Amino acid sequence: MNDKTIHSLTQNVLDTFADCTDPRLKQIMTALVTHLHAFASEVELTGDEWRRGIEFLTATGKMCNGIRQEFILLSDTLGLSIMIDAINHGRGGVTTESSLLGPFYREGAKEEEFGANIARTEGEPTLIHGRLVDEGGAPVAGALIEVWETANNGMYEGQDPDQPESNLRGKFRSGPNGEYAFRTIKPTSYPIPTDGPVGQMLMATGRHPMRPAHIHFLIVAPGYETLTTALYSEGDPYVHSDAVFGSKPSLVIDYVPNHDAAAAKEWALPSPFFEVQRDFVLSARQV
Ligand code: BEZ
Ligand code: FE
Repeated sequence: MNDKTIHSLTQNVLDTFADCTDPRLKQIMTALVTHLHAFASEVELTGDEWRRGIEFLTATGKMCNGIRQEFILLSDTLGLSIMIDAINHGRGGVTTESSLLGPFYREGAKEEEFGANIARTEGEPTLIHGRLVDEGGAPVAGALIEVWETANNGMYEGQDPDQPESNLRGKFRSGPNGEYAFRTIKPTSYPIPTDGPVGQMLMATGRHPMRPAHIHFLIVAPGYETLTTALYSEGDPYVHSDAVFGSKPSLVIDYVPNHDAAAAKEWALPSPFFEVQRDFVLSARQV
C-alpha cells in the first residue's frame, strides 16, 4: 500500500466524525485515529502482531477487578499517567512537583496528632517534618496531609492481611505556621504487581518492575490545588529508573541520621534516628 492510499484511508475515517457535535470529543478522536494509523504504518504492523496486541489488551481487561486495575498499571508503565500529570500539573516555578497517586491509596485514614507515630511494624525509625507554604512563602494552616507507605516487606497495609489496621498511613493537619510532623519508618523499594500482562510486557522488553523507596503525600487545603506527590529516597538503587516514572529529582530526599539524644527523647525515638526536613509549596487555586 502506498503512502497516498494510507493517507486517504486515514482521511476516510476522519470524515466520519464530521457530524460529531462535541468539539472536544471530535478533537480527541481525530488525533487518536491519526496517531494510531501513523503508528501501524510506521512499524508496518502485521496481522499476527495486531492479533497479539488485541490478546494482550483483552488479558489486561480480564485482570481488572474491584482491587486490581491492570489498565492503570499499563498506563503507568508506559509513562502515560505521569505524562498526563505533567500536562495538567506542570506548574513550574517554586511549587512542589506532583507524582503518582498509585493504586494503593485508601480513603478513610485516621486523623492523627502532630508528630504521631504511624509505624506499627518494625523498621528504621524516622521523623519527617516541615511546613506547608504558598508560593510567596506564607504558611498554609489547617491543610490535611495524608501519607502512606509500604512496610519493610514491600507491601502496603491494604495489600497485606498480616499488617495491623492503619499501619504506615495517617492524616495530619498543618498547624498555624503551616508546620507538620510525623514519625514513621524509612521506606523500602518494592515491585509493582507482575503477575499479569503488564508484568509480561516488562519482562519481554527487558525492564525491571521496581519502584524506588517512597512515601506518598496527598495534601488538601482550601483555596489551593490539591497536591498529589511522593518523596523518594536518595541512594535507592531504583531512584533513577522508577518502573512507573514517578520519581523526579526535585522529590528526592536524604534521610539524615540524627544523633542528638535529647531530640530522640523528645520524640520518643531510639537514638540515632533518621530525620527528613521537607517543606511543600502549594499552588493557589485558579479562579
Ligand atoms: C505506588 O506508588 O503505589 C504505585 C504507583 C503506580 C503503580 C504501582 C504502584
Ligand atoms: Fe507507592
